[in-house]
Amino acid sequence: MKIMVSITLVFLVFFFAYVEGNSQKDDDFIFNGFKGANLSMDGSSIITPNGLLQLTNQTGYIIGHAFYPSPINMFIEQNSSNTSTVSSFSTSFVFGIIPSDLKQGGGHGFAFAISPDSKLSGSSSSHFLGLFNDANNGNPMNHVFAVEFDTVGAAGGFGDHDSNHVGIDVNGLNSIAQEPATMTMENGEPIKVWIEYDGVHKHINVTLSPLDVPRPSKPLLSEPLDLSKTLIDSMYVGFSASTAKLASSHYILGWSFRLNGTAKEIESSLLPSLPQVKSPGDSKRHAALALIPATFLVIAVVALWYMYRMRKKRQEESLEDWELDCPHRFGYKDLHIATKGFKASEVIGIGGFGTVYKGVLPKTGEQIAVKRILHGSRQGVREFVAEIESLGRLRHKNLVHLLGWCKRNEDLLLVYDFIPNGSLDLFLLIRQDNFVLSWEKRFKIVRGIASALLYLHQDWEQVVVHRDIKASNILLDVDMNGRLGDFGLARLYDHGENPRTTHVVGTLGYIAPELSRTGKATVRTDVFAYGTLLLVVACGKRPVDPVVGHSTLLDWVTECYHADRVMDVVDPKLNSAYVIEEMEMVLKLGLLCSNWNPESRPSMRQVMRFLDGDDPLPTDGIATDAYLHSQHFKSIFGDVELKNVITSHSQSSSIGPVSTNSFEGGR
Ligand SMILES: *[C@@H]1O[C@H](CO)[C@@H](O)[C@H](O)[C@H]1NC(C)=O
Ligand SMILES: *[C@@H]1O[C@H](CO)[C@@H](O)[C@H](O)[C@H]1NC(C)=O
Ligand SMILES: *[C@@H]1O[C@H](CO)[C@@H](O)[C@H](O)[C@H]1NC(C)=O
Ligand SMILES: *[C@@H]1O[C@H](CO)[C@@H](O)[C@H](O)[C@H]1NC(C)=O
Ligand SMILES: *[C@@H]1O[C@H](CO)[C@@H](O)[C@H](O)[C@H]1NC(C)=O
Ligand SMILES: *[C@@H]1O[C@H](CO)[C@@H](O)[C@H](O)[C@H]1NC(C)=O
Repeated sequence: MKIMVSITLVFLVFFFAYVEGNSQKDDDFIFNGFKGANLSMDGSSIITPNGLLQLTNQTGYIIGHAFYPSPINMFIEQNSSNTSTVSSFSTSFVFGIIPSDLKQGGGHGFAFAISPDSKLSGSSSSHFLGLFNDANNGNPMNHVFAVEFDTVGAAGGFGDHDSNHVGIDVNGLNSIAQEPATMTMENGEPIKVWIEYDGVHKHINVTLSPLDVPRPSKPLLSEPLDLSKTLIDSMYVGFSASTAKLASSHYILGWSFRLNGTAKEIESSLLPSLPQVKSPGDSKRHAALALIPATFLVIAVVALWYMYRMRKKRQEESLEDWELDCPHRFGYKDLHIATKGFKASEVIGIGGFGTVYKGVLPKTGEQIAVKRILHGSRQGVREFVAEIESLGRLRHKNLVHLLGWCKRNEDLLLVYDFIPNGSLDLFLLIRQDNFVLSWEKRFKIVRGIASALLYLHQDWEQVVVHRDIKASNILLDVDMNGRLGDFGLARLYDHGENPRTTHVVGTLGYIAPELSRTGKATVRTDVFAYGTLLLVVACGKRPVDPVVGHSTLLDWVTECYHADRVMDVVDPKLNSAYVIEEMEMVLKLGLLCSNWNPESRPSMRQVMRFLDGDDPLPTDGIATDAYLHSQHFKSIFGDVELKNVITSHSQSSSIGPVSTNSFEGGR
C-alpha cells in the first residue's frame, strides 16, 4: 500500500513537472505553425488544415483578427516611487502575402498590433487594416500600437509614400515613421520580421528579411518611442488584416513573443508552407512548350552571369570578415568612378602619406577628397580601421570630416570632405602674388583650430591626439574658416611599426622636444605644435629657416621677445594692419605653448580662454628656455644642412589633408 502511494506520488510529481515545463507562459510563447493553437480569432481568420494562420482570403472588403487569447501585463513597476513604464518586449513572426492578381497587386495589408481588446470592434476594412475607423483614427484613447505592412500606397491616404512599406503606428494610421520594405512583400514568399522594443531606452526597432536570408544587421526602422503613454496595463497582442477592392490572402506562418527578453527563435523547418502562387494562364501544355527555349535561356543566363561574376570578382576588393560590419566602409568601385579611375588630372595634392584626388561620388554627387595611402604592409590596418570607425564619428565645424575608408589589396583609401580653398600654408607661405591673408582672418583661423583641438583633447568621448598639427594640414573652406585635417594618420605608422623601434612622426619645427626623445605623442605635444602654428601665422614664416642666423622660428621670436622687440617679428605683409593687443597676445601665447617643459604648457581649454580674452596671459612661463631649444635642435641635426628639408616645403599640397615634408625617424 505504502509503495503504491509513493509510486503514485512520484508519478504525480513527474506529471506536474512535465505539464509545467511544456506549458507556455502568457508573456513568453512561440508557435512554429498554428496547428491546434488556441487563439482569439474573428472575421475571416482561420487556421488552415496545414497550420497556417490565414487572416484574410482574396475576398474584397473583409477583416481578420487573431490575438493571443490571454491579455499580457505590459507594465513593470520601475522603482519605489510607483512610476511604472512599459516593459521591453520582442516579437518575431513569419508572414506571407498572396495577392489576388500578381500583376495588379493585392491589398490592403496587415499589422502586428497591441490593443486593449482582442475584437477591435467597429474597425473598418481597406486602408484601416481592421484596426481603426474614420471616427477614431488618431484618437489617443485608442491605446493601440501597431506595426503595419501596407501593400497599397498613396491612394490609401494617411501620408503613405510607397505601395510596399512598413510603418510604426500609434493610435492611428498616420505612421510616426515609415520606410519602404527592402523586398516585395506581396510576392507569395515567406518573410521574417523582428520587432524589438527597449523599455529602458524607449526605442523600437523593426527588422525584416526573406526567410531564407540571414537577419540583416541593420533594422529597417529604428526609432525613439515611449509606449508608456500609449499602452495600458492589460493588453492583447496579435494581428489584424483587411482587404478592399484589391485583395490578398494574408498568412502568418509562425510567431513568437516574449516580454522583457528576446523572443524564441522560430524554427523555419517546422513552419507550414504557403500555397503555391498561381500565375495567370498557367497550363501544363504551355509549360511544357515553354520549357525548351526556357532551358536554353536559363543556361545562357547562368553562363553570362557566371562570366560577369568572375570578372567582377577580379575587380572587387576581397573583404575579410571584420570588414563587413563597418558603416564607414566605401566600395572600391564607387571611389574608382568618383576619381575617374585615379586619373592624374584629378590629383590635388601629394604628400608624405600619399596622393590626394578630388572626386565626385556617383550616387549623391557629393564632392570628396580621396587620399590614397601607400601602405605596403597589411599589418596594423585592422586596428587602424577600428580607429577610423571611431574617428569617423568626430564632428566639429573646424575639422575636416573623415567620411570613410576603403581597403583594396595593399591600397588604403581615406575619404574626406572636399575643402575648396586649399591649405593655410598656401596662403601664408607659398603664394607669390600680392594676396595677403588679413589679420582678422588669421585670428579667426587660429581660434577655430584651437576650438577643434579642444574638442579632440577634452570635449569628445575619448582623447584624440592629432600628432601632426601644421599649416599644411589646415584647410580653408569657402568662408575661410580653418579646418584641421589628417588626424589619426600618424597612428597608422605606429600600428604598422615594429613595436621595438620607436618612430617619430611629425613635421620639423612642430615636434616637441620630449616627443623626439621618447616618441610618445600626447596632448602636450599637440599644444607645442599649436604654439609653433601661432608663430607661423603671426610671422608669415616657416618654422625652420626664418631669418639668417637662427635655426628655428621659435629661436628667433624668443630672442626678439627677450630683447623687448617682439613686434619686430610680425609678418611684414600685414603692413601694420592688425590689432596690436591681439598680435602681442598671439605671439606670447605661441611662446607659452612652445615651453620646453610640457607641464608648463597651457591646456587647450586655457588657450581658448586666452584667445577669447577671458583670462589674461600669465607673465612667466614665456620663453624662458630659448637656449634649451636651440641646443636641442642642434643635438638632433648637428650641423646638418637644413637646405634639403627646407626646399621640400615649397612643393606643398594645394588641397586635401596632405602632409608634406613629414619628418620621420630622427637620429
Ligand atoms: C473568404 O472569407 C470570407 C469571410 O470569412 C468567407 O465568407 C468566404 O467564404 C471565404 N472565401 C473563400 C474562397 O474561402
Ligand atoms: C484558450 O485560452 C483561453 C484563455 O487562456 C482559455 O480560457 C480557453 O479555455 C482556452 N481554450 C482551449 C480550448 O484551450
Ligand atoms: C523613479 O523613476 C522615475 C522615472 O524614471 C524617476 O523620475 C524617479 O526619480 C525615480 N525614483 C526613485 C526613488 O528612484
Ligand atoms: C505606492 O503604491 C502603494 C500601493 O499601491 C501605496 O500604498 C503607496 O502609497 C504608493 N507610494 C507612492 C509614493 O505613491
Ligand atoms: C535597435 O537598433 C540599433 C541599431 O542597430 C541598436 O543599437 C539597438 O540596440 C537596437 N535596439 C533594440 C531594442 O534592439
Ligand atoms: C527583466 O529582465 C531583466 C534582465 O533579464 C531583469 O533584471 C528584470 O528583473 C526583469 N524585469 C521584470 C519585471 O521581470
